[in-house]
Amino acid sequence: MLLYGASGHAKVILSILEANGQRVTAIFDDDPEKKLLERIPVIGTYDPKHEPTAPLIISIGYNAVRRQIARHIQHVFGTAIHPTALVDTNVTVGEGSVIMQGAIVQVGTSMGKHVIVNTGATVDHDCKLGDFVHVAPGVTLCGSVQVGENTLIGAGSVVAPNLTIGADCLIAAGSVVTVCVPNGATVRGNPARIIATS
Ligand SMILES: CC(C)(COP(=O)(O)OP(=O)(O)OC[C@H]1O[C@@H](n2cnc3c(N)ncnc32)[C@H](O)[C@@H]1OP(=O)(O)O)[C@@H](O)C(=O)NCCC(=O)NCCS
Repeated sequence: MLLYGASGHAKVILSILEANGQRVTAIFDDDPEKKLLERIPVIGTYDPKHEPTAPLIISIGYNAVRRQIARHIQHVFGTAIHPTALVDTNVTVGEGSVIMQGAIVQVGTSMGKHVIVNTGATVDHDCKLGDFVHVAPGVTLCGSVQVGENTLIGAGSVVAPNLTIGADCLIAAGSVVTVCVPNGATVRGNPARIIATS
């Protein structure tokens, strides 16, 4: 396995892969100062010829950057699911996606590509997570919630059942979302209110 991005988020992905007995041989990173992460060599900018058949995960938490990098990757994408995560057998996990320690993903949920379900987050039944969504640590998504592409659901937020959250939204940490959220909105608070739109 290869990673792209020698960040704190990458350390968590390394720990997941290690728990699954998978070896990471190298990490790409655009910062030439970075040389090593947890004893794994950081080998510089992306090179499609480096271990071209190895799967790769983009280990960057920031959705927009993950999306931009995904466009020019030629390796196949891997996935990483920690053994302590409870993922129902009737869940689809798109390429490049990761599910962290203690997360729960319930029956009927579909996760797009390059999605992050972070530490201890709960995604209940029949949710639909678009590509490049990040469900941050400790979030609760109730049943049948839809989340559009590139949206960040901030740490500890709660989203009530059957709601649709648009694409490119930012749900501030600790929000309680009780109504649908339009594309590009930033919301915060309990109940969550729109504070900005893009
Ligand atoms: C919403 C958010 C993006 C705001 O960031 P910001 O624009 O830098 O805002 P600031 O920190 O300058 O704070 C601006 C105001 O909003 C308030 N505020 C910031 N975050 C808030 C939140 N989550 N809920 C309620 N109020 C918040 C601040 O207290 C401050 O209030 P004030 O003007 O009365 O002093 C950020 O706080 C946040 O929640 N990000 C999500 C982080 C996250 O969960 N990441 C996942 C990591 S794994």
